Amino acid sequence: MATAADTGILGDEQREQRDEIVEMLKKAYWMEIETVMSYIANSVNPDGIRAQEIIESLKTDITEELGHAQQFANRIKELYGVVPGSEEFSAEQSFLQPPEVQTDIVHIIKGVIEAESGAIEFYNQIIQKTDGVDFVTQDMVIAILADEQGHRRLFEGFLREYEAEGLA
Ligand SMILES: [Fe+2]
Repeated sequence: MATAADTGILGDEQREQRDEIVEMLKKAYWMEIETVMSYIANSVNPDGIRAQEIIESLKTDITEELGHAQQFANRIKELYGVVPGSEEFSAEQSFLQPPEVQTDIVHIIKGVIEAESGAIEFYNQIIQKTDGVDFVTQDMVIAILADEQGHRRLFEGFLREYEAEGLA
């Protein structure tokens, strides 16, 4: 019979820890899915010359965020969890709803920064939670965290430009 040292996070004696990690991964999965929805809308709705850079950027991010969602889903399964169905979804990104006016690019930039900040905060929690317990999940989430930090930095740069011009 396999010992705890052999099986690690997949072992019976790690069930409780594993279930807690799976719950966190489900939340992360929904965060990514909601980001995909928000980024699709916000890569189509904006009007104006200034909007084009944001549109192009969000379009590429959609694929990346979808990839994150798939990675979280795969890891849920590997940890003996079940990827939730759509009925379990509840929206949280109030800040990424379409603005009143479709030329309001600052609203979108700030919304993206808030979404990325939320992801960064939560993924840091997963990294802490899995430390010494589940290095595979930790490693995966560290790589995803790096992507989110990159997105946030890019959009902080966009915001700086608007602020410098007195538009934000
Ligand atoms: Fe993501």
